Amino acid sequence: MSRKKLLAANWKMYKTPQQAEAFVGGFLPLVHGHTRDEIVICPPYVSIPALTELLCDTNVGLGGQNMYWEKEGAYTGEVSAAMLLSVGCTHVILGHSERRQYFGETDETVNRRLQAALAAGLTSIVCIGEVLEEREAGITNDVLRRQCENALRGISGEHVAKFTIAYEPVWAIGTGKTATPEIAVDAHRVIRKQAAVALGDDAAQKLRILYGGSIKPENAKALMSQEEIDGGLVGGASLDPKSFAAIVKW
Ligand code: 13P
Repeated sequence: MSRKKLLAANWKMYKTPQQAEAFVGGFLPLVHGHTRDEIVICPPYVSIPALTELLCDTNVGLGGQNMYWEKEGAYTGEVSAAMLLSVGCTHVILGHSERRQYFGETDETVNRRLQAALAAGLTSIVCIGEVLEEREAGITNDVLRRQCENALRGISGEHVAKFTIAYEPVWAIGTGKTATPEIAVDAHRVIRKQAAVALGDDAAQKLRILYGGSIKPENAKALMSQEEIDGGLVGGASLDPKSFAAIVKW
């Protein structure tokens, strides 16, 4: 089963609209004609419109870093799926560990967001992953199974092309401590097995599972050449055009 890999940049709270434009000006020529992998950039909300036109009809997609599940209403600070679509987004990151850690996101709210994103037609990147204490306590697989089961509750396998799961071990995010390919592959197998319970075997084989956590140009090839790793969600190293292009071209 060959699954096209997805390399997504999560810019987190970095880059103004001007800085986002400058990035794209440098980045597009570096990945021109690259079709082996899918490429997506997820800027902060305010910088998305600056890239709508620049990325239109290119090989680079645009995504949000979060969204709320309601269509509209009195929800200060939130944006809806339709709003992301209206500025050219095709993708959205959901349940990032920083959302879970600092902003009260739970397995249940991630599931609600995924349902709404699917209904609206956005492709979701659903993040799961254990914290260091959980890995050290030997409960990583239990945590991944629980997060995966809850994220996919009520989701049908027929939608599998419209979402991916990103395995992001929290101890590897922004720390420079990348999971070894073996650690990532083991985790992906656990996730795929759990996904099969919710989605069925066929759909689980089609499900793309990304790895995220201190991906750099130097380690991208070792990770991305694993059949079980269907792409990457890149934070820090996606902020520089040359470095993200090198990762995309692993
Ligand atoms: P880093 O690549 O900076 O470790 O961040 C990973 C991440 O959180 C991507 O969503």
